[in-house]
Amino acid sequence: MSITARFYANTPDGKEVTLFTLENSKGMKAEIINYGGTIVSLYVPDKDGKLADVTLGYDNLKGYLEDDGTYFGALIGRHANRIEKAEFELNGVVYKLAKNDGENNLHGGIKGFDKQVWDAEIIDWEGKEGLQLTYFSKDGEENFPGNLKVKVVYVLSEDNGLEIHYYAVSDKDTVVNLTNHAYFNLSGHAAGSISGHELMINADQFTPINNEGIPTGEIRDVKGTPMDFTKLSPIGPGFDSDDEQIINGKGYDHNWVLKVSGKEPEKAAELYDPASGRVMEVFTTKPGIQFYSGNFLKGSGVGKGGAVYNKRSALCLETQYFPNAMKHKHFPSPILKAGQEYKHTTIYKFSAR
Ligand code: GAL
Repeated sequence: MSITARFYANTPDGKEVTLFTLENSKGMKAEIINYGGTIVSLYVPDKDGKLADVTLGYDNLKGYLEDDGTYFGALIGRHANRIEKAEFELNGVVYKLAKNDGENNLHGGIKGFDKQVWDAEIIDWEGKEGLQLTYFSKDGEENFPGNLKVKVVYVLSEDNGLEIHYYAVSDKDTVVNLTNHAYFNLSGHAAGSISGHELMINADQFTPINNEGIPTGEIRDVKGTPMDFTKLSPIGPGFDSDDEQIINGKGYDHNWVLKVSGKEPEKAAELYDPASGRVMEVFTTKPGIQFYSGNFLKGSGVGKGGAVYNKRSALCLETQYFPNAMKHKHFPSPILKAGQEYKHTTIYKFSAR
């Protein structure tokens, strides 16, 4: 595995953004910029060994700066997904956040971690090279409490796993829920609809949402619903079902309750594209996964190589704490106590058959 770095662009306020290329001996390649810690491309072999870029994105920084809420490939923080009414209570204090999604807070607010330039360094990671990104989120940034030191290490393994190791520590009690928002189309980023993809999610339950995409607190069995991905199943049929949950999400946009221990990365999901034979397995230590079927993509903006990304032309599998967990005390807690370490790993592992 090797990592190379080259100049990518300057932000309007003069910060330098670097493009890092992570490559392994199997030909797999990931390109990541330190603006938002964004995965800008991910080249993966199909069943005949042919490489394609399987993540959506833009050709230049301007595209990412002008992005209208897709969060293509970016690291999300301080709190991924929605917080109802944009406020939460911690230690008797109510913290009011930006309402950047209707009445609610989404993906860390107006200027979340996806819009920050992270410090970057190529480090030794257990004998391999790793891309270490660090960001210091000040006490009160986006109204979250506590100075938070965040570290994310990307590693590309020889078995075609893109590993994402997340760490954070705060000087005050706070909430932390970090994820990556890559959009995948295993036929290639410009290939169109993902309705032929098949998905398995290692979960018997999911968290139903209201019509603003907010978990209501209920934990419901997937059995007998379009949310049942206990076995590898095509995702297309569920899109157009008249199930109340699909209507609320305008497609799939829900959190599944993973059957993982949280102690070490365990299999959370498998995505298979019969057309290319590409397989993506997701391993994680996190308790939940948001399967979002690209419902809000609207073909606006020009994607890589002039691609137009229409509704459902890619999907996200975002590992996370359940959205809105501060309101529902029976959900695993996203609270990070002062001085304690937040530590999670997610691996997107590719193969073909
Ligand atoms: C997802 C979220 C969607 C949408 C998307 C960004 O994580 O579940 O509802 O907001 O991010 O466009």
